Amino acid sequence: MLGPVILAASRSDRMRRLISAAPVTKRVVDRFIPGETVDEIVPIVRELTDRGLELTMDVVGEDITTPEQAEAARDAYLALIERLRTLELGTRAEMSVKLSMFGQALPGGHELALANVRPVVEAAAAIGTTVTLDAEDHTTLDSMFAIHEELRKDFPQTGCVIQAYLFRTEADARRLAGAGSRVRLVKGAYKEPAEVAYQQKHEIDKAYVRVLRILMEGEGYPMVGSHDPRLISVAQELARQAGRKPDEYEFQMLYGIRGDEHLRLAAEGHRMRVYTAYGTDWYGYFMRRLAEKPANLRFFLRSMISK
Ligand code: FDA
Repeated sequence: MLGPVILAASRSDRMRRLISAAPVTKRVVDRFIPGETVDEIVPIVRELTDRGLELTMDVVGEDITTPEQAEAARDAYLALIERLRTLELGTRAEMSVKLSMFGQALPGGHELALANVRPVVEAAAAIGTTVTLDAEDHTTLDSMFAIHEELRKDFPQTGCVIQAYLFRTEADARRLAGAGSRVRLVKGAYKEPAEVAYQQKHEIDKAYVRVLRILMEGEGYPMVGSHDPRLISVAQELARQAGRKPDEYEFQMLYGIRGDEHLRLAAEGHRMRVYTAYGTDWYGYFMRRLAEKPANLRFFLRSMISK
């Protein structure tokens, strides 16, 4: 029951101001967002890649209100990519982007987001890596998929995310499962109405398996974005049934969640990519992590009380 309440708070400016200003918040936030600047995140990139993990990098931020902020988001990614160039990691460090941060919700937002994300995709390609477009709330997805299709004309390796909780996703998966595609499947992290999305965990889990089967049986490259131990076993079994070798799909998990499992899967010979978020505008990302696991909220509240 707490999850939807926290997700509603994640869109509230008042809560944003309150929580962002709380003196102890930063300590708790660090678990999920281990840096605010490129300089702070580079040692984490080194540490994780040295341990055999791969990364997808997210500069946190969303729901911006001016075109200048969208340009600043673009520039933040370009600065990150410039630093990654010196580390020579290639596809071991790719980028994840939220189009809302590139201006998608502003007037003329579809064109603005495409214009801002394209240089990021170009810069990533120039250092031998790629970009995946995150999936946000369902009202943004037609625009996201159209931008994805447009970018793939020049950069076919550009990936996108689909969310198992949405009714539309099986059809999207069929459309996206062709040769050369890279698709991350996740359960879905936004508060969605019953008209468009499954609401019960068991329904979402069953949909996840159906969609994953489509991706595994397709010709693209599935990226299994989940920490759910049952779904990870199912993914291994579906990959086996589809005749896929370990390098023909990958697992992805979020920084700060089930870190031992990251290392276990990598040691078993799987490609394990850690979604590593950093930056100052962490509120929305942090609140979704609280909503996924109410125990996180208890930990957060305890840290405020015990200050
Ligand atoms: P589930 O929520 O059932 O969790 C399984 C287990 O994992 C839990 O029992 C717990 O042990 C652990 N766990 C999960 N979340 C936790 C948390 N916050 N804190 C502590 N433990 C936790 N969503 C979206 O809508 N658009 C997107 O673009 C993305 N991108 C994305 C990338 C990657 C790499 C991942 C892993 C996830 C996303 N998500 C996302 C988030 C996703 O939709 C979903 O909310 C979370 O992954 C949680 O779902 P699980 O599949 O992990 O299962």
